Amino acid sequence: MGALNQSLVFLCLSILALNAVVSAHNITAILSEFPDYSDYNKYLTQTKLADEINSRTTVTVLVLNNGAFSALASKHPASVLKKVLSLHIVLDYFDAQKLHKLPDGSTLSTTLYQTTGNAPGNLGSINITDLKGGKVGFGSAAQGSKLDSTYTKTVKEIPYNISVLEISAPIIATGILTAPAPSASDVNITALLEKAGAKKFASLISSSGVIKTYESAAEKGLTIFAPNDEAFKAPGVPDLNKLTNAELVSLLLYHSLAGYTPKGSLKTTTASLTTLATNGAGKYDITVTTAGDSVTLHTGVDSSRVADTVLDSTPLVIFTVDNLLLPTELFGKSPSPAPTPEPVSSPSPTPVLAPAPVSEAPSPLAASPPAPPTETPGEAPADGPAAESANSKSANRAGHVEAPALLTALLTVSAAVVSAVVLS
Ligand SMILES: *[C@@H]1O[C@H](CO)[C@@H](O)[C@H](O)[C@H]1NC(C)=O
Ligand SMILES: *[C@@H]1O[C@H](CO)[C@@H](O)[C@H](O)[C@H]1NC(C)=O
Ligand SMILES: *[C@@H]1O[C@H](CO)[C@@H](O)[C@H](O)[C@H]1NC(C)=O
Ligand SMILES: *[C@@H]1O[C@H](CO)[C@@H](O)[C@H](O)[C@H]1NC(C)=O
Repeated sequence: MGALNQSLVFLCLSILALNAVVSAHNITAILSEFPDYSDYNKYLTQTKLADEINSRTTVTVLVLNNGAFSALASKHPASVLKKVLSLHIVLDYFDAQKLHKLPDGSTLSTTLYQTTGNAPGNLGSINITDLKGGKVGFGSAAQGSKLDSTYTKTVKEIPYNISVLEISAPIIATGILTAPAPSASDVNITALLEKAGAKKFASLISSSGVIKTYESAAEKGLTIFAPNDEAFKAPGVPDLNKLTNAELVSLLLYHSLAGYTPKGSLKTTTASLTTLATNGAGKYDITVTTAGDSVTLHTGVDSSRVADTVLDSTPLVIFTVDNLLLPTELFGKSPSPAPTPEPVSSPSPTPVLAPAPVSEAPSPLAASPPAPPTETPGEAPADGPAAESANSKSANRAGHVEAPALLTALLTVSAAVVSAVVLS
């Protein structure tokens, strides 16, 4: 029962979390009313920091007008600007009144930069100090930093949710501008994957040629979900040798999205995501659920937690995932005798940029796992019939008979909790 209970708790948390990420504010919309901040606003969108801001309920955004921002923006790549801008997103609520009533006249406050893991010591925090003459100064919290940026005006205040304040100059932490930020074309994707414990995936994308698709997509924006080596050894993983080349290419491309989608953006995703495998012949999409800081991907056949961020350097982001992502287009068909036998392997490598449409006849592989019913986004990630799919780690055979009843009960309770929260 332990695993079942855990799954149910997880479901409950998922439902509450899904409720929580429906944000009350939209920083893009707030700033769009002020042409003075159009450059800053554009970069918040491009770096996806806007999603991070919108998913937080208590946040202060320190904005720079186009004049103050342009000197910075013209000299640095988006990956560096993302770090600098993260230092301007304060994880607390400060309005003009609070700025002038700081206890002891000075405080250190954590910013979004602190949460990236790239900020040693207190480089991810800022120092806010009430200076003489009514001025409020901002600077890095690192010892010896100057407070050479000052509060100029309030742009927007939605009490205790979001405050947008204009400051006079960028806040710069030591090393933030010079820290090496690899450009997408400099990154050796396979080397990074090998180092991150995804050797098998690295070798498959190299041998299939999918790496070329990744490399050409990386400059415009690319998100990769690389299954770690354990994922390929998990019980019930389909035999990849039984896939045709075209199917293998589709499976590998299915582990990636066109565009830069860091974790904060995955968390705010509500629609299903198309993948690089998506083509005229198949949807090959993925849905996402969030519980707190944990993000889970659902294919309709199985689910996988997003494990680690290997690289987040705008516009390329690479994650590891715990399980192979099995698309319904390849693994979700009901077993039925094929009208015509399919060639076991295709004679020549498939061109990578245009994955061949997947044959309508079920491949030998599609017949091996029992076809589970298609999962819906809001559904429990691990319970119910879908948990019986070959690859689900949380499958609970002992408990699965009682699951539907419990699930219904829990859904009812969750619904009651959610409405209570909404009503209060
Ligand atoms: C603040 O955020 C909460 C939760 O997201 C929301 O319910 C509330 O309406 C917001 N307050 C204002 C004034 O918008
Ligand atoms: C936020 O506002 C912008 C501009 O008004 C809009 O394009 C975008 O879809 C909005 N985002 C959300 C999550 O509502
Ligand atoms: C903020 O910086 C000023 C100037 O360097 C310093 O005197 C003050 O102690 C700092 N505030 C905190 C809370 O560390
Ligand atoms: C990338 O790294 C791999 C080792 O993982 C190496 O074999 C390959 O030559 C490297 N590619 C480039 C372009 O340096």
